[in-house]
Amino acid sequence: MSTEILIINGSPRKNKNCFKISEQISKTLTENNISNKIFNIYDMNIEYCTACGFCEKTGYCKFKDDMTPMYEMFDKAKGVIVISPVNFDSITAKLKTLVDRTQAIYASKYILKKPSIDRNKNRIGMYIAVGGSTPYETQFMGGQIVMDFFFKSVNNKLKYNIYLNSTDKLTYEENTEFKNILNENLNNYINDIKELD
Ligand SMILES: Cc1cc2nc3c(=O)[nH]c(=O)nc-3n(C[C@H](O)[C@H](O)[C@H](O)COP(=O)(O)O)c2cc1C
Repeated sequence: MSTEILIINGSPRKNKNCFKISEQISKTLTENNISNKIFNIYDMNIEYCTACGFCEKTGYCKFKDDMTPMYEMFDKAKGVIVISPVNFDSITAKLKTLVDRTQAIYASKYILKKPSIDRNKNRIGMYIAVGGSTPYETQFMGGQIVMDFFFKSVNNKLKYNIYLNSTDKLTYEENTEFKNILNENLNNYINDIKELD
């Protein structure tokens, strides 16, 4: 059976906030009999998009690397969950590299008009942004804009957007209020995923 939920951890740091949130989500999904896989993308070999135009002609990417199996996984999945640090009010560089590589899916749909992803399938997305600073107006704006576009590219309805701030002062594990918010949203997400069957 294909992996139901793809969990993408955009942080390079092991055992820090995004990593631990990813592990917690994976554990909860598994307890609910939902198959899942964590992608620690800083451990993966993902080439930068070079705008070569190959995908506009073929619908797939010319690079063969750790991104290659993900295209089919995005299609087969019931949902994608992305957890990323806020870097300069956006997502991390490696996550942006992954996002840019989904141009192959975008091009197959909108340029080639031969979709490499089933556009009629319902998939549900969740984005969790993690910032070190205390809250300020633009903290999550850049990342949110990019993620809105990414989830469209991989044909997920981005129903859940959750923000965690102030990790410089209080870690995810110490932040009871956030943990409750995450749990509540995750439970709703799990119900949504189960209803897709
Ligand atoms: C290069 C860099 C840029 C950052 N930029 C921001 C920022 O713009 N806003 C913010 O709130 N935190 C910023 N941070 C802090 C991280 O978002 C914070 O440490 C977060 O907890 C990292 O996720 P992790 O703990 O899962 O690795 C930045 C950190 C780094 C290393």
